[in-house]
Amino acid sequence: MTESFSLRDVTFQNRVFTASGTFGYGDEVVDLVDVDRIGAVITKSLSLKPRDGNPPPRIVETPAGMLNSIGLANIGVKKFIDEKIPKLEHIGATILANIAASSVDEYCAVMDMLDSFEIIRGYEINVSCPNDRDGGLQFGPDPAKVAQITRQLRKRTAKPLIIKLTPNVTRVSEFALAAEAEGADAVSLINTLIGMAVDIHTRKPKLSTVTGGLSGPAIKPVALAKVYETFKAVKIPIIGIGGVSTWEDAIEFFLAGATAVQTGTANFVSPACAVNIAEGIAAYCKSKKIRDVAELVACWTHPPTSRWCKAGSESYCAMM
Ligand code: FUM
Repeated sequence: MTESFSLRDVTFQNRVFTASGTFGYGDEVVDLVDVDRIGAVITKSLSLKPRDGNPPPRIVETPAGMLNSIGLANIGVKKFIDEKIPKLEHIGATILANIAASSVDEYCAVMDMLDSFEIIRGYEINVSCPNDRDGGLQFGPDPAKVAQITRQLRKRTAKPLIIKLTPNVTRVSEFALAAEAEGADAVSLINTLIGMAVDIHTRKPKLSTVTGGLSGPAIKPVALAKVYETFKAVKIPIIGIGGVSTWEDAIEFFLAGATAVQTGTANFVSPACAVNIAEGIAAYCKSKKIRDVAELVACWTHPPTSRWCKAGSESYCAMM
């Protein structure tokens, strides 16, 4: 049974990644989980300079979810190179670097600093952080900006380039199309939905920034709908994010059109959940006599669209 899939020359052993901002830089969790069994570990967003992020409180638990307003706090790309890359080179994980920036030039500068390191197998570009006007949200809602960023970054790297999109727009598929047209290898979605929680005792918002990004099981139905909308629009693979906590959730995302998934909020509950979910997917496929997880991707949308081809007697997604 085949669990792997490839973007460019990088083959991911399975289709469950850990989402940026929920798994540190990858090295902090090695005592908790076999990171070499995860499809890919995506680093916390990296910016050119270190960022302190927003003042606390910047995390709030909500029914079936979590609100965060971290503000892209990170150690900066130089410290990441000096202190984290030497550790990541020894943990056996497939590492994708997530980049956040406040200008196109900054995205390019961070990528230029990382691209020669072999341990960085590819990139996820954060154009969708809802918590910092300088760190994504001014790009995410503008397809022309997403296109410009993708175009500039595509020129700089031969490694897989994934653009992470915001759901806080009317049609996420327009942004996916813009990224696809400029050479993105995949899109990941959804980043968090803008939300708010209020403390009735203090009579104030619970987050210092008033609003934040909602994640967790509460957003899964929205994420599935956005993945399906995007699946109908683009040919590049979609990496589904939003409330993936179990292998059943992952299968739902595949059926909605995702090629792979990311676990985010669930990592805080169970750091090994990505590994467990990958095992659950494999067991499900074996029990259903599915030879390749790719067979699940939007399989109910047959008869085949242009992205499907015949392989033997079964339909396979040509993009897998
Ligand atoms: O506030 C944050 O750092 C969130 C980032 C994101 O959702 O991309």
